[in-house]
Amino acid sequence: MTQAPETSRNAEKTMLRALRGETLARPPVWLMRQAGRYLPEYRELRARAEGFLDLCYTPDYAVEVTLQPIRRYGFDAAILFSDILVVPHALGQKVWFEEGVGPRLEALEEASDLDRLDPAALHERLAPVYRTVARLSRELPAETTLIGFAGAPWTVASYMLEGGSSKDFAAGKRWAYGDPEAMQRLIDLLVAATGDYLIAQIDAGAEAVQIFDSWAGVWPEAQLRRWCLEPAKALVKRLKAERPGVPVILFPRGAGLLYQTYAAESGADALGLDTTVPLGWAREVLQPKVCVQGNLDPLALVAGGESQRAAVETILRELSGGPFVFNLGHGIVPQTPPEHVAQLMEQIRAWPGAGGW
Ligand code: CP3
Repeated sequence: MTQAPETSRNAEKTMLRALRGETLARPPVWLMRQAGRYLPEYRELRARAEGFLDLCYTPDYAVEVTLQPIRRYGFDAAILFSDILVVPHALGQKVWFEEGVGPRLEALEEASDLDRLDPAALHERLAPVYRTVARLSRELPAETTLIGFAGAPWTVASYMLEGGSSKDFAAGKRWAYGDPEAMQRLIDLLVAATGDYLIAQIDAGAEAVQIFDSWAGVWPEAQLRRWCLEPAKALVKRLKAERPGVPVILFPRGAGLLYQTYAAESGADALGLDTTVPLGWAREVLQPKVCVQGNLDPLALVAGGESQRAAVETILRELSGGPFVFNLGHGIVPQTPPEHVAQLMEQIRAWPGAGGW
C-alpha cells in the first residue's frame, strides 16, 4: 500500500472531518463495543486466549480483534481493543474478569488504600497497549480513523471503589459525600494517569480519543460538576495543550440537561449522546457548539426489522444537517445479530439517497 504524507491522509478521513465540525452528506459511522461477543470470530479468538486481560495485553490478539468489525462492516473508525480497567490494573490494583459476572477488582476500602496505587509503572504495564495502537495505525485501511480511549476518572473510580459493577454506587457515593478529600485524591490521581495514558496512545498513532463516563448519570448536578465535568475539563485542557489538533470525544452518559453544560464548558470537540437525549434538542442546543455522536438504542439493533430502520432514519434526518457521527447510545450488546449491523450499514451508506434531502 502506498501512503501519502500523514497530514494529507488525515485531512481526508470523514470521521476526523466530522469531529472538526464539518457537516457531511453521509455521516461517518462506528459503534461503541463494535468488537466483542456478538461476533463469532471474536468468541472464537476469546476462547483461545487465557482470559480477557490476556486479549487486551497481547498485541497479536488485540490488533486482530480490533480489525474484525472493520473487515466485516467497513466502519469509518476503529476503536482500540482494550478496556477502561487496564488503568487501575496498571496502577497496581488487582483486576480480573469472571466468566458470567464481569469485571472484579480488589476494592479500595479506606483512604489509606490510595497509598498502594503507584503510577510509576503505568507506561511499562501499558506498553503492550501502545504497541497495539502502533500496529493498528500501520495496518488499518487508509480511510479508517483510529480511536484511542480511556474511562473517565469517576467511571473508573466507581469500579475501583465498588470492586466491580454496581447498581447503586453506594461505595463511590460514600467516599464522595463522606470523605470528599480522599475522593478528590483518587480523582486527581486518575486525571493524571488517564492524561498520561491518552497522550501515549496519541503518540503511538491514535488519531482521536474518546473518554467514557458511562456512570456520569448517577449524580445530582453539584456532584456531576465536581466528579465528572471538572475532571473531564482538566483532561481536555491538558490534551489540547500537549497534543493540539487531536479531537476529543466525551461520553457523559446520562448527563441529561447538563449535556448543554458539557457543550459550553468542556472544550471537547464532540459529545457522545446516550439513547435518552432528544434529537431535536441535540440539534438545536448542542450541534451549534460541538459535533454530536450517537444515539441509536442498542436494543433497537437487537430487535432489527422495521423498528430498527425507522429509528436509524429518524436519527439521520434529525442530526445529519450538522456535524454528526452515527453511533449507538451505549455499547452494542452480545445478543445483537451480526446481520442487523450489516443492514444498519447498508442504510447509512445509502443515505441521503435518491429523494433524500
Ligand atoms: O468498543 C470497543 O469495541 C472497544 C473495546 C471496549 C471494551 N470495553 C471491550 C470489552 C471498550 C471501549 C470498553 C469500555 C468499557 N469497559 C466501559 C465503558 C463503556 C461502557 O460500556 O459503558 C466500561 C464501563 C467497561 C468495563 C467493563 N468491561 C464491563 C462492565 C465489562 C463486562 C460487561 C460485558 O460487556 O462483558 C467489561 C468486559 C469487556 N470489555 C468485554 C469486552 C469485549 C467482554 C469481555 C469478554 O469477552 O468476556
